[in-house]
Amino acid sequence: MNVLDMTGRTALVTGAGQGVGRQVALHIAAYGGAVVVNDYHLDRAEAVAAEISEQGGRALALRCDVTDLDDVTAMVAHGTEQLGPIDVLVNNAGNAGPADDPLAHTPPFWETDPKDWEPWIATNFYGVLNGCRAVLPDMVERGYGRIVSVISDAGRTGEPNLAVYGGAKAGAAGFSRGLAKSVGRHGITANCVALSTVNTPGVASAIADPEVARKALRGYVIRRFGEPADAANAVLFLASDAAAWVTGQTYPVNGGYAITP
Ligand SMILES: NC(=O)c1ccc[n+]([C@@H]2O[C@H](COP(=O)([O-])OP(=O)(O)OC[C@H]3O[C@@H](n4cnc5c(N)ncnc54)[C@H](O)[C@@H]3O)[C@@H](O)[C@H]2O)c1
Repeated sequence: MNVLDMTGRTALVTGAGQGVGRQVALHIAAYGGAVVVNDYHLDRAEAVAAEISEQGGRALALRCDVTDLDDVTAMVAHGTEQLGPIDVLVNNAGNAGPADDPLAHTPPFWETDPKDWEPWIATNFYGVLNGCRAVLPDMVERGYGRIVSVISDAGRTGEPNLAVYGGAKAGAAGFSRGLAKSVGRHGITANCVALSTVNTPGVASAIADPEVARKALRGYVIRRFGEPADAANAVLFLASDAAAWVTGQTYPVNGGYAITP
């Protein structure tokens, strides 16, 4: 028996064209699940879907911007038609900031405008609400669902210059807790995974300088940055039937960056 078996399940992974989302899609496929690989860069999603197909799995690449509910609803309908009803939603699409090098150049909050906050809130908060809104009617009707949202320690313990991003991520975690209480009686769980620095294209520039990286690593009990597989292992667990009795939780996966009760 493999408690992580995903055979017969269909997952939708948002922002799965690279980094953590890509690895989550590969993990779910490796454990037998079919995967809708979403990204707003279609070429990235197609490359990941091709990788899964080459390994004998089932995948469909779909472009969609998770900040647009109509776009997400259409993607869910298309994915359902091609691969079957969505059993697992992984809200992974996220952005630490609007700039290319967000961690290095994010201005202090008191120098920002509301329009600067929008990209953080739209993807990291509304993206999660949109994904859930689109998949839940069918999950409720079928009496089964797993929802896993990827948040950040910036939203759990706070990070300087990432307050808006952290606020949006914390909002997603708070939303998940309330949602978990609404949907549990329909056989649906909702949990979050809170990451610290994971080595992905999204943060590559922020940890490229060896001196910056060396200083940052002092904060980690396990002295390395995470790899996408570290995150994907936890997401896979929460997406599987092994986690049937886990809901409304936020799991830190962070190399001991912040150890809290
Ligand atoms: N990497 C880290 O250190 C880290 C730390 C904490 C939390 N996280 C979170 O983990 C998740 C994955 O991070 P990553 O580092 O792999 O990111 P990444 O930037 O490497 O990749 C994210 C992917 O999501 C896609 N995307 C972004 N916004 C989208 C949207 N609105 N609609 C559809 N697709 C969209 C991008 O095109 C990209 O391919 C994010 O939610 C991020 O906030 C990452």
